[in-house]
Amino acid sequence: MRTQVAIIGGGPSGLLLSQLLMKEGIEAVVLERQTREHVLGRIRAGVLEMGFVDLMREAGVAERLDREGFIHDGTVLSFDNEQVRIDFTELAGRPVTVYGQTEVTRDLYDARDKTGGTTIFEVENVVLHDVETDKPYVTYRKNGQEARIDCDFIAGCDGFHGVSRKTIPDTVRRDFEKVYPFGWLGILSETPPVHHELIYASSERGFALCSMRNAHLSRYYVQCDLSDKVEAWSDQAFWDELRRRIPAETAEALVTGPSIEKSIAPLRSFVSEPMRWGRLFLCGDAAHIVPPTGAKGLNSAASDVFYLHRGLTSYYQERDSAGIDGYSQKALARVWKTQRFSWWMTNLLHRFPDRSDFDIRMQQAEIAHLQDVRAAQETLAKNYVGLPY
Ligand code: FAD
Ligand code: DHB
Repeated sequence: MRTQVAIIGGGPSGLLLSQLLMKEGIEAVVLERQTREHVLGRIRAGVLEMGFVDLMREAGVAERLDREGFIHDGTVLSFDNEQVRIDFTELAGRPVTVYGQTEVTRDLYDARDKTGGTTIFEVENVVLHDVETDKPYVTYRKNGQEARIDCDFIAGCDGFHGVSRKTIPDTVRRDFEKVYPFGWLGILSETPPVHHELIYASSERGFALCSMRNAHLSRYYVQCDLSDKVEAWSDQAFWDELRRRIPAETAEALVTGPSIEKSIAPLRSFVSEPMRWGRLFLCGDAAHIVPPTGAKGLNSAASDVFYLHRGLTSYYQERDSAGIDGYSQKALARVWKTQRFSWWMTNLLHRFPDRSDFDIRMQQAEIAHLQDVRAAQETLAKNYVGLPY
């Protein structure tokens, strides 16, 4: 088989890139290791920047997102019983949209079905070849048969555990990593959200987040120990712990119910440089991971897709390679700013088990600064709604 762009990974990065390329008449084949049902079953991010929504519109897949997404003009940060509301629209000029990653992925797969793009599921043993030449190709196994795709370019959109990043030799690649000493235990429940906006809560017992998917579906998280096992957390224990970490009046208003999903995610900051090697371009979690505190994982993936789509379009339509040549530098410049914000939000709101008395005072001073200084709130708001592409 031959195509113009071979896309490894059918998560949000790979799917969005494929749809945007197709709009420009550039052909792509998506290779996905899992089944479609598996990809759609993953409960992940929930907050979309306006830039992401605009890209979905450009790709022609925002009809349901525009109808069913919830516009959020602000969020609440709570520190024990004190609260600060960050008004995104007033401080940063635009809101964010609450719409689950599962729905984004579903819309992208539905659009791909309609436009007839090729997606091959359940591929095994994907290997990238001759990436440093102008004739790269990809081999894989499907139903026990070996297959090959020749292409002009390869987009590595296969997440943190994918093969694309590892194809870049150690002599070229440099990884930067910070692992945090805690995780997030998240649950999804068919209950009304406790508040109409998200609440990011910092408390002596640790961090908690009240989020939502719609008026009848809530998503909540509590900071947990890395050694915790999800089976050991009963729903009752989760709700009790959440109540202790959020403002008293919110805890009283909380409607609880059985969880329909429960999982633990470790927290990590990670960046791999460069994001391009020869004819291979890394996008999204394949190149970088953020701790989820700033809601930036999915949004960061979208900005990579934006730069790569623009670069490939100029290459094919105008024979101009400046966009693809500058891809790694441009994408990384925004990635590092997003890393900084996610790291800062994580430090601000979590309880670090190994913190010193000095660290505690610094965290308190940071909170007081945020409460008192409008410019500090403005910085938070501008980063949260998304830096310009
Ligand atoms: P992925 O979504 O990881 O997609 C990569 C795809 O590639 C997958 O479908 C995978 O099956 C496929 N793949 C992997 N290896 C291969 C291979 N060898 N061959 C073919 N296909 C392959 N972000 C937030 O903003 N908020 C959150 O609450 C949040 N929660 C998260 C919880 C978890 C458990 C995880 C892992 C991430 C979470 N994120 C969150 C981050 C966010 O979901 C990611 O940033 C986003 O999914 C990135 O999209 P992606 O397409 O780059 O990668
Ligand atoms: C959600 C996840 C986040 O990491 C975040 O910062 C906000 C919302 C969510 O899953 O709803």
